[in-house]
Amino acid sequence: MTSTDTQIVMPPATPETEKRGGDSCPAICSGFRVYHEEAGIRIFHGDSREIVPTLGVFDLLLTDPPYGIKQDAGMGGGGYDGFGGGKKRTPKAYAGGWDDTTPDMELMRLCLEACRTHIVWGGNYLSAMLPQKPKWLVWDKEQTMPTYSDAELAWTTLPGVAVKMLRYNGSGLMAKEKSRQHPTQKPLNLMLWCLQLAGDAQTVLDPFGGSGTTARACKDLGKQCVLIEREERYCEIAAKRLAQDVLPLGIPNDKIQP
Ligand SMILES: C[S@@+](CC[C@H](N)C(=O)[O-])C[C@H]1O[C@@H](n2cnc3c(N)ncnc32)[C@H](O)[C@@H]1O
Repeated sequence: MTSTDTQIVMPPATPETEKRGGDSCPAICSGFRVYHEEAGIRIFHGDSREIVPTLGVFDLLLTDPPYGIKQDAGMGGGGYDGFGGGKKRTPKAYAGGWDDTTPDMELMRLCLEACRTHIVWGGNYLSAMLPQKPKWLVWDKEQTMPTYSDAELAWTTLPGVAVKMLRYNGSGLMAKEKSRQHPTQKPLNLMLWCLQLAGDAQTVLDPFGGSGTTARACKDLGKQCVLIEREERYCEIAAKRLAQDVLPLGIPNDKIQP
């Protein structure tokens, strides 16, 4: 994979692009801090820019990089419980600073190059540097606040051309998944859906791991995952989420049409 001044160029996989990895989960500790490890899952605390080049090639990049729209300043969990003058909740302040900018082209190139197939949430914020691809994913958030996004978009290199959409209320007042510990935490069901769309991908990299939704989904589906997160506080949350019992969530099969 090479890059021009403006866009990452992706050549087809060759022995050259495959040479760094094998078929098993290819993380090598390489002196970086492994924050958490359990069967098939590893969380690195550190900067993806340094860690990703030391890893092998994964089947799937499933990630949600910073969008550069300062969502880190968010105060999730505030507002009122219920409607019509319910009890006021205390807002949660999140660790800030990470959403000042999107990853630069070099970092995105490293991440794409480390994987055979890709699903990148927030692809619309990165589209100037990503190659044109037809198969985008849409998450219809079924949310009712007029000032919030109705949907989020993922750029993918999944096979086929049909755009796919999941309608799932995973954030906001009426959310089906209430517990949120990161301002841009993705619903677990969304990541399960992505993994199911990616078919037989067995090894997954998330270099912008946040609260660990990708790793949790991988664990639930028996996939191997390497997660990288720069903020220690989110590594801790991710490790705790992995320790929880498997939740009775799941995408009905009729929603998945690769
Ligand atoms: C949009 S959030 C991911 C949220 C995640 N999908 C979840 O469900 O919790 C992006 C995360 O990437 C992390 N990050 C940003 N740049 C990074 C880098 N260079 N290396 C590692 N982590 C990084 C940020 O700290 C932030 O937690």
